[in-house]
Amino acid sequence: MTDSYRILVTGATGVVGASLLAQLENAAKSGAKVDGKPIEAIGATRSEKKKAALAANGSKAVILDLDNPDSSSGALHGVDAVFLATSYTASMCEQSKFFADVCVDVGVKHFVHLGVLIPPREAKLYVPLIAWHELAELYIKTTFPDSYTFLHAGEFLDNCLSYNGRSRIRDGTISWYSVPDRPTLWIAGADIAAVAATALLNPAHHRGKTYRLGTQVATISEACKIFSDAVGKEIRHEMMDGTQLYEETEREDPKDVGRLGYIKFIAREANRRRKDYEHRVRSGTTLSSDESRLKPFPDVEQVLGRKTMGLREFAEANKDAFLERS
Ligand SMILES: NC(=O)c1ccc[n+]([C@@H]2O[C@H](COP(=O)([O-])OP(=O)(O)OC[C@H]3O[C@@H](n4cnc5c(N)ncnc54)[C@H](OP(=O)(O)O)[C@@H]3O)[C@@H](O)[C@H]2O)c1
Repeated sequence: MTDSYRILVTGATGVVGASLLAQLENAAKSGAKVDGKPIEAIGATRSEKKKAALAANGSKAVILDLDNPDSSSGALHGVDAVFLATSYTASMCEQSKFFADVCVDVGVKHFVHLGVLIPPREAKLYVPLIAWHELAELYIKTTFPDSYTFLHAGEFLDNCLSYNGRSRIRDGTISWYSVPDRPTLWIAGADIAAVAATALLNPAHHRGKTYRLGTQVATISEACKIFSDAVGKEIRHEMMDGTQLYEETEREDPKDVGRLGYIKFIAREANRRRKDYEHRVRSGTTLSSDESRLKPFPDVEQVLGRKTMGLREFAEANKDAFLERS
């Protein structure tokens, strides 16, 4: 038993986890309580160096490697609630299972998981990453039937600045792995974190719920127009070649077979979409209505009770990053 309500944030050095940790720390400073106890947020990372950086920033940090369940036992000691974000590989299946098992052992009361938007079965979209998330969540739901909260996110706006461990914008050009006319359902990482924080701070309202997080639909061409307008400088995009994306990932870490497996799929899909797009341009045709049918979900505004961060607000909030690299 501890005097505080401890919330462990995995992926605390990543896009969503870092923002979530900061938001929970602010809530703690403002005196937030759960179950009558003041909250205590703890960030987890695999790396001693990143742990030291978190601590230097005033955060509480622990070492946790999801590939080593023994490290979870130490990190989860006395923890009441968790936020689980995994990386982009099939390992997320066993990582999530073993992590959930240890969470049960230590008596975790609320399990928040960051997943992806799941297309309906009829869409016949066979995306490995989505399948891994679905399988991981089936186990989490079985293990925490009344105390899970699932966050199914669309495309992070943050990917426009950095993705696959790399800056994606240089000289005002976003190198993008999809095509100019295909709509995307966007969400800002900070808003995903805000939904996670709201759920973690009010578990009774959010246990057993799945939220679909996508707040604005736009193609990358439309997005660039909005970004340009917001930062006062032209932001363009170039279609990234799938093979180039794969080679870039391989150069970064040729031994990271899990990530390479995922990027291989993305690369193939990027090349297929590019061919389709070039065909559409040559033949003067457009996307089918099925392919272009995407709608934002109201969940984020409903959970947060405020307007969400759209593309314009994202660009304004990250103006320096857009301009620095322009
Ligand atoms: N990007 C998108 O558009 C999008 C859309 C929907 C869903 N998602 C999902 O979001 C998740 C990624 O979230 P993110 O973008 O916030 O993260 P991110 O910025 O890609 O960073 C990955 C985080 O995961 C941690 N991590 C990686 N392997 C780990 C391991 N073995 N043990 C413990 N921690 C590990 C890293 O921590 P350390 O390096 O510090 O250990 C890092 O903090 C993925 O599951 C992805 O499928 C992404």
